[in-house]
Amino acid sequence: MPNINFSQSLVALAPLAGFTDLPFRYICKKFGVDITFSEMISVNALIRDSKKTFHMLKRASNEDIYIVQIAGSDINNIIEAVKILNDIEGISGIDLNCGCPVPKVVAQDAGSSLLKDLPHMAKIIEAIKKHSAKRYTSVKTRIGFSEKTPEIIAKKIEEAGADFISIHGRTRSGGYKAEIDYDAIKRAKECVKIPVFANGDITTYEKALEIRNFTKCEGLMIGRGAVGNPWIFYQLKHNQKNVDKSFIKLIVLEHLQLMIEFYGDKMGVILFRKHLHAYSKSFPQAAMFRHKVNTILDTNEIQKEIERFFI
Ligand SMILES: Cc1cc2nc3c(=O)[nH]c(=O)nc-3n(C[C@H](O)[C@H](O)[C@H](O)COP(=O)(O)O)c2cc1C
Repeated sequence: MPNINFSQSLVALAPLAGFTDLPFRYICKKFGVDITFSEMISVNALIRDSKKTFHMLKRASNEDIYIVQIAGSDINNIIEAVKILNDIEGISGIDLNCGCPVPKVVAQDAGSSLLKDLPHMAKIIEAIKKHSAKRYTSVKTRIGFSEKTPEIIAKKIEEAGADFISIHGRTRSGGYKAEIDYDAIKRAKECVKIPVFANGDITTYEKALEIRNFTKCEGLMIGRGAVGNPWIFYQLKHNQKNVDKSFIKLIVLEHLQLMIEFYGDKMGVILFRKHLHAYSKSFPQAAMFRHKVNTILDTNEIQKEIERFFI
């Protein structure tokens, strides 16, 4: 597997539970994204040997730099999970989730909860680094739990031995809607030597360039801005403001096909609905289309609707 070339302007697909599965990562990779992250994988689920978890971990055939993100807090469990991942081929690195705001995760002292106990967070990073046989150990964090302390967090992550950091420019209290603090990301970037990815509300080519220039980060990480819009990676890799969207129907059909292969007929169609909603957003009659596809379970029927709708 190739190393990450941090000297070029990088773009990464953010981990998004429920979205960045193998089919979607394959599509984003086709559009040139450099680094892909799995959906968050619970360390406990991984240890319990859950079949579903192993399915979630599969790498798409075109993913060359594929990072698996884990969420947990207990060091022994984390080490056990790392050892399981060591035996799975095709994984470039292990990323520690220090950003998840979901109460269930926070209650287990995982995700963004780790930002309340930085010495413990550091011990986890050190343990991953020590036991992982993968090339990269990385961390995805927010800029604080309640208070903004981006410099302190970034320094601690670097000292613990992480190879790079992705920073979502909100605190845990900021959820997913507070205004992104790009200045906090920039300050964190300035106080560490390891590469930093800036993350949060990067939804257009223009905004991506602006954030890249402002933060001077080695990379940008894009999540929701890529859902229904995976060609944002092509725009950034090829420096193109406008893309020809006449091929959207083909992409949507290919994405559907991959979903069916990965999840099976009925589940593939059901799980594809949220992507169809996103793909159809800027088209006329999108609301009617969304309403219609919400009731379809049959593969051929959904395919016909897609062919009719995306002209
Ligand atoms: C539906 C959803 C699922 C998410 N799942 C994860 C996850 O599994 N791991 C993680 O680190 N962050 C997760 N996030 C946070 C994103 O990776 C990202 O930090 C956040 O959405 C801001 O970036 P964006 O505006 O580009 O989406 C999730 C966010 C959303 C909206």
